[in-house]
Amino acid sequence: MTAANRVMQSYGRCCASPNFFDTFYQHFLASSPAIRDKFTKTNMVAQKQLLRAGILNLVLYARGMSDTKLRALGQSHSREGLDIRPELYDLWLDSLLLAVKEHDKDADTDILAAWREVLGKGINLIKSFY
Ligand code: HEM
Repeated sequence: MTAANRVMQSYGRCCASPNFFDTFYQHFLASSPAIRDKFTKTNMVAQKQLLRAGILNLVLYARGMSDTKLRALGQSHSREGLDIRPELYDLWLDSLLLAVKEHDKDADTDILAAWREVLGKGINLIKSFY
């Protein structure tokens, strides 16, 4: 199975696990004051739904989907927009992997490495718009 397909299956198990996105935001917000500052006025219920689709788009991009959606995310997160500094994506990915480890009972080191590889491609594209 390709890395992108293994990630897709792992993501399915994560989404089926209650509180996966809560766990992600707990880790992410705890990772830096710079992250917490960005979400002070955010409706986190809505944000979790947006992230659900955002992660799916990262996986679909690695499976060959057009880059249109990720380019739009790159623009919204750029310095003219939300101003998300590129190094904050490392904290984002580390937080996501912690959440995957806790919510996907099948997550082993291979699956976690697949997540890093697969999401890394789309994250690099988003960062390139900064
Ligand atoms: C908004 C996805 C990384 C902070 C959003 C939205 C999506 C999204 C889909 C809503 C639509 C939009 O504004 O374009 C993602 C994905 C990421 C990522 C897939 C990883 C590749 C980050 C990082 C930060 C961040 C590293 C750092 C703090 C925000 C903020 C908003 C936002 C502050 C707006 C929240 C509000 O409306 O108050 N993100 N994001 N994102 N993202 Fe991200």
